[in-house]
Amino acid sequence: MPEPLLEVRGLCKHFPIRRGLLSRTVGQLRAVDGVSFDVGAGEVLGLVGESGCGKTTTGRCILRLIEPTAGSIRFAGREVTHLPRRELRPTRGATRTSSRAGSASGSAWHARWRSTRA
Ligand SMILES: Nc1ncnc2c1ncn2[C@@H]1O[C@H](COP(=O)(O)OP(=O)(O)OP(=O)(O)O)[C@@H](O)[C@H]1O
Ligand SMILES: [Mg+2]
Repeated sequence: MPEPLLEVRGLCKHFPIRRGLLSRTVGQLRAVDGVSFDVGAGEVLGLVGESGCGKTTTGRCILRLIEPTAGSIRFAGREVTHLPRRELRPTRGATRTSSRAGSASGSAWHARWRSTRA
């Protein structure tokens, strides 16, 4: 079996829940809480689930558009979870997100990074 292109382990993204005039943090919204999967070269992964279950947030974390709270993301055998953003150059047109509303609500995307350090 070839090594997966993308390996996601224990991915979590928690958003603070703020309340009141001073915007105090009163809790954490667990948008993504322990997601793991592999995607092989040439494969497309579809995420399907009810609205608000965390599909878009999962994709945004993997693309590092937002920082994951916990977990690891490996791309082409390289740990990219904490790589500085300038070293993650999303190739234009190579990252896709598509969403469909309705009962088959889901997101499909694939990701590719090019590292400036290669
Ligand atoms: N920037 C944010 N700040 C606070 N909460 C957020 C933020 N982004 C998403 N959330 C919350 O995280 C949860 C997951 O949202 P997400 O957009 O990932 O769901 P989704 O599965 O893509 O939903 P949909 O099918 O409607 O697109 C929701 O409860 C949402 O309100
Ligand atoms: Mg969404």
